[in-house]
Amino acid sequence: MTVRLMEAALARVSGSRLLQTCNFSPSQEPLVMPEPTPSENDAILKEYNQLAASYDRRWRAYVDETVRVVIESVALRGDERILDIACGTGELERLLLARWPGLQIVGTDICEGMLREAARKAECKTVSWLRAGASDLPQPNGSFDCVLCANSFHYFRSPVETLAEVRRVLRPNGQFVLVDWCDNYLICKLCSLWLRLTDRTFFRLYTLPDCRRQLEQSGLEVVGADRFRVGWIWGLMRVVCRRTP
Ligand SMILES: C[S@@+](CC[C@H](N)C(=O)[O-])C[C@H]1O[C@@H](n2cnc3c(N)ncnc32)[C@H](O)[C@@H]1O
Repeated sequence: MTVRLMEAALARVSGSRLLQTCNFSPSQEPLVMPEPTPSENDAILKEYNQLAASYDRRWRAYVDETVRVVIESVALRGDERILDIACGTGELERLLLARWPGLQIVGTDICEGMLREAARKAECKTVSWLRAGASDLPQPNGSFDCVLCANSFHYFRSPVETLAEVRRVLRPNGQFVLVDWCDNYLICKLCSLWLRLTDRTFFRLYTLPDCRRQLEQSGLEVVGADRFRVGWIWGLMRVVCRRTP
């Protein structure tokens, strides 16, 4: 339902930007699929497994715009280790690697269909895909310079645990960028009320101050935060953090 509602709205979004060109094509990229995640995520798995093949086409304008905001927010040299939580079909990876081919990126998601789509598109050897829940990451402590999360935080059933995991896998002073819908916008509040009643995949939205508070309480120093719109309907927030030592 989240998807259907967003699709109806996005059909009206105008002025989308063109994707950068990048040589993504079918390949045998590393793709790790451990056991399925707990049953509370069943609705998400069902929805995104069904959507995976058409996600890029249907959501192109919205994803392009929001991923561009994520990329603008990170300060990179080009050789960092990056984790993208809830990476979906890997559009963020595709665009990051088009600009900085030397990045080492891991994309994680709970949905096998989305990960397969990401792996199908990627030809770069420095990206790998891993099935993992956002609150239960398998990577060692301090193993990333940068963690990213786009358009997904409203699905997470355990946001506190997720942020604890973000902090754990980041090296000291590492960056975290979060972009998601924002409850400060009236239209998002109304969507949120509706989705809570009708859509089992949806969990909740946060206001920017709520989100900041949660991040700070998780040991992530907020170094930048703002709100922006995509089209006339989607109100989002971007929060840029640094892991305190
Ligand atoms: C709207 S898509 C966003 C995908 C991508 N980040 C983008 O911006 O295009 C949401 C993604 O979150 C994933 N997801 C939802 N809950 C998750 C969780 N608890 N852990 C990991 N991934 C999750 C879904 O499977 C889906 O691929």
